[in-house]
Amino acid sequence: MASTNPKPTKVTPITLPPLPWPEDALEPFISKNTIGFHYGKHHRTYVDKLNELIAGKPEAAMSLEDIVRKTVGKQTKVDILHNAQQTWNHTFYWNSMRPKGDPKPPREIAEKIQSSFGGYDAFKKKFAEAAVGQFGSGWAWLIAQGGKLKVVATPDGEDPLPTSATPLLTLDVWEHAYYLDYQNRRKDYVAAVIDNLLNWDFATQNLAHGNDKRERPPRR
Ligand SMILES: [Fe+2]
Repeated sequence: MASTNPKPTKVTPITLPPLPWPEDALEPFISKNTIGFHYGKHHRTYVDKLNELIAGKPEAAMSLEDIVRKTVGKQTKVDILHNAQQTWNHTFYWNSMRPKGDPKPPREIAEKIQSSFGGYDAFKKKFAEAAVGQFGSGWAWLIAQGGKLKVVATPDGEDPLPTSATPLLTLDVWEHAYYLDYQNRRKDYVAAVIDNLLNWDFATQNLAHGNDKRERPPRR
C-alpha cells in the first residue's frame, strides 16, 4: 500500500544561502566589492522581499522551485514570481562559478558539448554571444533538453525552471553583476567568467540529477 506523503507542518522562510566561496575569491575577474554588493545587497533584497510577499500565503509552504513553477503566468503573483526567480537564479549563479574554474569540462560534458555545439570553442562563442547579446537585464544559460545541450538567454528574472530543460550553468548579465568592475564593458566581464570561472563540477552534478530531482523532500 502506498504511503501518504506528510505535508510540512512548519513554514520556514526562504533563506539566503552562504556563498560557496569567500567574497574575494573570484578576483581579479570579479572584485570583492562587486560580490559584496551583488550578494549582500541585491541577492539579499530579493530574498527579504520574497519572504515579505509570501507571508501568510500558500507560497510560504512551498519550496523555492515550486514557487517559481506555480506562479508563472499568474498576473496576481507577478511580484512573488520575480523575487522568487531572482532568489533562485542568484544562488545558481554563485554555484556556476568557482575560483580557478576548470579550463575545460570533464569528459561526460565535453562529449555532449562536442555533439551539441561542435566543440568547446564553439560553445564558448555561443554562450558569450547569448550573454552579450541579451538586450537589457537578463541571464545566459547552458541547459540540457531533449538529450542535447543548448544555450539560451532570458530577459529580466526569467529562468528555465518552469520548462522541461535542466539548467546546468548560468551567467548574470544585469549591470549590477559587472558595472563596478567593467562599467559598460559587458563583453569583457562575460569573457573573463567564461575563460576563468566556470564550475563544470556543478554543471556535471546538474546534468546527472536533472531538473526535478533538485527539489528537497519535505522535512519530517
Ligand atoms: Fe544579479
